[in-house]
Order: sequence, then C-alpha cells, then structure tokens
Amino acid sequence: MVRKPPTADVGARVDVVRAIAAARLEDRGPLMPVLHDVMAEFGYIDHADVVAIADVLNLSVADVHGVVSFYKDFRTAPAPAHIVALCRGEACQSVGAEALYAAARYAAAAGDYGPDTEVEQVFCFGNCALGPSGTIDGRLVGRLDPDRLSALTQEWRS
Ligand code: FES
Repeated sequence: MVRKPPTADVGARVDVVRAIAAARLEDRGPLMPVLHDVMAEFGYIDHADVVAIADVLNLSVADVHGVVSFYKDFRTAPAPAHIVALCRGEACQSVGAEALYAAARYAAAAGDYGPDTEVEQVFCFGNCALGPSGTIDGRLVGRLDPDRLSALTQEWRS
C-alpha cells in the first residue's frame, strides 16, 4: 500500500474525493470501487471523504460509513509504519496464538516493536500447519512466538 501523509488541505482532498466519486457515478454499484479508489489515492478514508462520497453518490453518510467500517481493509486513519498481523484462527489458537496475540499487543503498546507499529488480528492465513502464523509488513511467517516476533521486528527499532 502506498502511504501518503495526511494532507493539511482538507478542501483540496475533498475535491479529489468528489472527482473520484463523480467518475464512477454511472457505474453499477459504484460505492466499493470509489472506496478502493480513495484508498489507492490517500491510503485511508477520512470522515470528510465519507461525507463527500455520500453526497456525490446520493447515499446516506450512515450507509457509506457502514461499508467503510465493515471491511478491515478500509482504513480510517493513515497506516502505521509497520503492521504485524497475527492469526487468531482455531488451528493457531491450539498452538498458542491467543497468548502470542496478547503479548504482541502489549509489546506494541509499550513501543517494543518501534514507535509506529500496529498489531492486527486475522482469522486464518491458510498457513495452519505452521501456526501460530502471522505477517510482518505483509510477509507470511509461521511458528511465531514472542521471542521470534521480537527478533523479526528488530530492524524497526533502529
Ligand atoms: S488458523 Fe492460523 S493460519 Fe489458519
């Protein structure tokens, strides 16, 4: 995902979002493509974007917000520098994923993985035989434990 810093010019951003939505106005079911386009352009969907999209597509703000908040891939804030996604699916739970997830959340909140790292939950990467599984900035890894996770994120602390 391309990360762009939040723009200070909200009006200019809303103009871009309105143009994105207007370009899809004749599409059948334009909301999802518009949201994906805004994500591609800015890396997240701001509340002002939701209002603008709702206006252009003649939807309610609640409808647009509901879709944005339903799908985890639609971010409502800029992405952090690093993302650790840990599986909490049943197979991974049976080999310690819940304890790993709790430890990772605690470590991230304490800044142990660097200053701007988010820990997310996922429910199966299809890597069940090598659980606990996760991704580190999108790279699939298995057989995770707190020590291995710490080692794999070491470079983020320098
Ligand atoms: S349950 Fe964790 S990868 Fe499938």
